[in-house]
Amino acid sequence: MSRFERWDDLAGVRRKPRRTLGADGRTDLGLFFPPQLYPVALHPLVTARGDATVRRLLLQRLYDYLDFTTELETVAVIPVAIKISRGRSGLLLPEHMRADAFKIVTDEAWHAQFSDDFARQVAAETGIPSQGAGGRPPAFLPRLDELRERLPAHVRGVESLLFAIVSETLISGILADVPRDGRLPRSVREVVRDHAEDEGRHHIYFRSLLRHLWPALTPRERGAIGPLVPAVIHAFLEPDYARAADHLAAVGLSAPEIDQVIAESWPPAVTRAEVAEAASTLVRHLREAGVLDDARTYEAFENSGLLEAGPPSRRFVTDGASLPCTPMEFTR
Ligand SMILES: [Fe+2]
Ligand SMILES: [Fe+2]
Repeated sequence: MSRFERWDDLAGVRRKPRRTLGADGRTDLGLFFPPQLYPVALHPLVTARGDATVRRLLLQRLYDYLDFTTELETVAVIPVAIKISRGRSGLLLPEHMRADAFKIVTDEAWHAQFSDDFARQVAAETGIPSQGAGGRPPAFLPRLDELRERLPAHVRGVESLLFAIVSETLISGILADVPRDGRLPRSVREVVRDHAEDEGRHHIYFRSLLRHLWPALTPRERGAIGPLVPAVIHAFLEPDYARAADHLAAVGLSAPEIDQVIAESWPPAVTRAEVAEAASTLVRHLREAGVLDDARTYEAFENSGLLEAGPPSRRFVTDGASLPCTPMEFTR
């Protein structure tokens, strides 16, 4: 049975109200993003500049998340779901999967819309605009463009399906952690929770899409695409270093300080382990679908650390629990 059979009763766009920051009824808006998910904000060179600097960076991180979401839905997921719904994906899919794809288009358009809307509300309420949105694109976009160019001509076109499958079956720490973090404004948690609930259904759909896609490819096509899958996973999950550098510059750090903060906040070994942890469910699905059967693909997964398990450890990062929950200084 399709998980979308009860879509009318369950979908956020049908059931959930518009989330408004003003409705929180708090003068103290707390933290805007869980600091443990943005380790640069807890680096000693940043915390030495005071609480307001930390909060400012976390606010920019929320904006980046909202911008990432809007961009991801509109660029990577909606076009693919539209193709599936119209029977132009190149895959032979059961009828209900085509019908369900329409519901995914609607869900994702709603997610893009409410993320954009919420960012506007935050800017109006805090008087602090988003620094990243409208400027440098979120890092996953140039990363995917680069991967697309590395693909041989005979598999061009398949990558969009694959990018959508990867992004829709990753379990981001944000979707899991933000709704539970009581230090954040209620509306921020609700915006992310609304999204996470819909994504649970999408996750199952795209997992099933993977099971249709992979056997439909020829061994040659699988051999060309498979080794790139780890890089696709990293494209979505690795931190956006460039935007973090922009934010650190905006709060007054010098170029050498920015390099130091980024290098020490995201040591490559720790980032690899964190990406592997976030991708572990997806890697299991990929394995079950036969993606890792190809020797070169398996090797690429091994080299990228995605087959390693084990909790990552960090030097500076705690959950940020020591941060006092004082009101953020707004410029307005
Ligand atoms: Fe979504
Ligand atoms: Fe989705």
